[in-house]
Amino acid sequence: MSNAGLLNFMTVSLVMLLIGIAVLLLMVHLELGPLSGLSGGRKWGLTLVLGSGMLAFSIKLTILATLVHFPERTIRSGMVAQPAVLVVDWEKLNKDSPKMVLSGMQKGYVWRTLPERAPAPDWNPTTPEKVALGERLFHDTSLSIDGTLSCSSCHDVRKGAGEDHRSGSLGVGGQVGSRNAPTVWNSGFQSVLFWDGRAASLEEQAKGPPTNPKEMGMPSLQAVEQRVKDNAAYREPFAKAFGANQPITIKEITAAIAAYERTLITTDTPYDRFVRGDEKALSAAQLRGMALFQTVGCILCHSGPNFSAASVFDPPPATQRIFPVFNSAKYEARYNLTKDVGANEKGSAQGVWRVPSLRNVALTAPYFHNGSVDNLPEAVRIMATVQRGKRISNDINDNKTIVWSSRDKTLARLEAAPLSDRDVNDIVEFLKALSSDALLARSKVAVRGM
Ligand code: HEC
Ligand code: HEC
Repeated sequence: MSNAGLLNFMTVSLVMLLIGIAVLLLMVHLELGPLSGLSGGRKWGLTLVLGSGMLAFSIKLTILATLVHFPERTIRSGMVAQPAVLVVDWEKLNKDSPKMVLSGMQKGYVWRTLPERAPAPDWNPTTPEKVALGERLFHDTSLSIDGTLSCSSCHDVRKGAGEDHRSGSLGVGGQVGSRNAPTVWNSGFQSVLFWDGRAASLEEQAKGPPTNPKEMGMPSLQAVEQRVKDNAAYREPFAKAFGANQPITIKEITAAIAAYERTLITTDTPYDRFVRGDEKALSAAQLRGMALFQTVGCILCHSGPNFSAASVFDPPPATQRIFPVFNSAKYEARYNLTKDVGANEKGSAQGVWRVPSLRNVALTAPYFHNGSVDNLPEAVRIMATVQRGKRISNDINDNKTIVWSSRDKTLARLEAAPLSDRDVNDIVEFLKALSSDALLARSKVAVRGM
């Protein structure tokens, strides 16, 4: 409804109102007046008193009629100022999910959006020339021993979500690795790289795959340098990126690849739009999931704008965490979660792993370092159980773990209330709000379990 339409409606209402009032006044004066037996002046007094009451009543009716006809218009603009902050009905949320009790460090958690640029080390500033060269190298299969694999074979950034949808990646000669390929999207914001966090920068990380016998299989980094030097088409782009006198070494090769990776950023997500001020960007389920993500304590590890404590936004030393914190025989039997213990000593009962980013996680199944879980709801159930000690149960009586201290005469409800399937789905819905629109649109692979 336009402003003009609203104005017309108001004018017509006002005219009708005035005519109505005139008729009412006349009726009181001519009908009730004689009946009351009052004299001239008093008769007018009665008319005025009764008339003003009716006038107030009619104005009320007009306002109500306007509100009913134009609820959007009237409430959203003009008359009532837009609230500066979204008012979330916490009472309602709490009634739906009694376990949403904010406490300790979970209180006052600030949600942030991802910056448009990733920070680069002083010695390797991100320039357009380096980025263009890095993109070319990233897609160049001559960096592998038999010319079959490029970085993008396992991190498909053009058609996929920056990974390969496999549990273990496929290296040269059809070898299958033991770890899942993480997405390279937003890896420019991670403070340590690899599942176990063993690389401190993208430059350092990029030296790994070419000589990994199970990945690109080159005999040495010198051999990689030689391949690039032998390709005349690289001379000009390298000269542009690093100067004509700079010899091509592995340092420049990895610097260019890292510069390119720092441009792989996704801020086009419902979550970022919501935090930037679009209150309608998240569905009710996603908003509930977001609140659960906070109250259940996922933010203790998946914190900050890249949803990982191992990112440039959070100060160390929280980059690596024990996983699983609470061992689960059921999940261990199904998914072999502790066969590989990551950064922990061999033979340990638990692994130690870098906290991964959860951006685009709905597009990057399968999950965990060994890619053993193929759907997101199961990954969330596992995390809630083994990292937060939650049970999954739909029994509403489970929500009522009440502790009565007869000594202190105090009542408390245990916060360890279980998560219901609905809670898990709400968290999954929230994680989907971390998917980039662009990656979602082009991702042709159906994500199972959702
Ligand atoms: C054969 C498949 C394969 C190829 C080829 C490959 N990678 Fe990877 N990449 C992986 C796997 C698997 C991991 C995880 C390994 C681990 O954590 O131990 C990984 C990890 C990474 C990470 C760390 C991401 C993070 O969040 O920690 C980056 C960045 C990366 N690769 C970039 C590259 C670049 C650059 C190239 C080319 C020079 C490349 N990869 C080639 C499979 C591959
Ligand atoms: C104590 C720290 C910690 C907490 C709390 C935690 N996580 Fe994690 N999360 C991790 C670590 C570490 C990994 C990597 C585990 C691995 O595969 O080795 C991970 C992995 C994941 C993955 C798989 C990511 C991928 O790309 O494969 C998802 C999804 C996830 N977490 C969601 C959650 C949710 C939802 C919560 C809250 C219920 C949560 N996490 C709580 C530390 C944590």
